[in-house]
Amino acid sequence: MKRKYSLECCVPFFLGFVLFLVGWLIYRVVTVPEKAYGRELIVSVLIILALIGILWSFIRKMTRQNKMLEDTNRKLAELDRMKTEFLANVSHELRTPLTVIMGYSELLEERLAREENKTNVKFVQTIHRKSEDLLNLINDLIDFSRIESGRLELKLSRFKVEEVVNETVEELATSAEKKKHTIQINHRDMPLWLLADRGKIKQIIVNILQNAIKYTPSEGCIIVRTYAQNDRCYIEVEDNGIGISKEQIAQIYQPFKQADSSYNKKYEGFGLGLAITKSLVQSHNGNIRVQSVPGEGSLFIVSLPREKNA
Ligand SMILES: Nc1ncnc2c1ncn2[C@@H]1O[C@H](COP(=O)(O)OP(=O)(O)OP(=O)(O)O)[C@@H](O)[C@H]1O
Ligand SMILES: [Mg+2]
Repeated sequence: MKRKYSLECCVPFFLGFVLFLVGWLIYRVVTVPEKAYGRELIVSVLIILALIGILWSFIRKMTRQNKMLEDTNRKLAELDRMKTEFLANVSHELRTPLTVIMGYSELLEERLAREENKTNVKFVQTIHRKSEDLLNLINDLIDFSRIESGRLELKLSRFKVEEVVNETVEELATSAEKKKHTIQINHRDMPLWLLADRGKIKQIIVNILQNAIKYTPSEGCIIVRTYAQNDRCYIEVEDNGIGISKEQIAQIYQPFKQADSSYNKKYEGFGLGLAITKSLVQSHNGNIRVQSVPGEGSLFIVSLPREKNA
């Protein structure tokens, strides 16, 4: 929408033509002064005036169109800001009752565990699990709206990246076990220091590792590597899952985009994980890329500036 009116490119052409005509007229008068120029002069002046008129109407039209574009841009920006604000407010409002539901379902689960009826325990566990999914989604929406409105704040501290990786793998071990995956960890250059927002770096690893677990069929193999190269720290997550096609790779970092977005899609999710991850990586002056072969697996590579003298 920021594109200026395309007739702009005609203006230099018309201006050039008018100047050429004026020049030609002066040249004729100077080189052959004895000739009478009555009719020639009138025709040339009329052409020049006509061209100046066209030029003038072009410029007016351009100015009007540019103003309209500017107005539309302003309105769109305002709508975008309102959408982000709405998203943030709704998410915040939803988070509070959800936390209460989760708290009570946990309490109920503990009480029911002492009773005989295991079906009730299962029901409560499902309530708790689904509330947790919903809370994760709400947190993603809040993060996304923060990033969109440029309100993302980084709390920098110095820490070892391998510690964060180990912590994350440990936390996601249960969901990996459920699918009988094996997760291997390979830290090549220890200790590997970062000056970054620890929570956000963890969120980056969680998102990529969660995807590896989710998009790898049962009994898969996931490898998490960390290493240093020059002044960069690298974090890699490799899986032997379903992989991503070349066309899909172009879309995976876009918000609300999933490779399979059909109504009966196989994998749950909102398509926000990698969009948030990319913004978080970039806010740390980092870079994220992926290599993937459909049906064979994917390798996500995150590089971040490394803290050398820690
Ligand atoms: N390791 C992977 N293997 C195969 N496909 C992947 C992998 N990681 C991401 N993708 C593809 O990229 C898309 C976008 O990923 P993203 O994490 O942003 O969304 P999601 O996992 O679908 O939902 P959310 O993370 O919001 O729960 C996914 O829908 C999936 O198609
Ligand atoms: Mg995801």
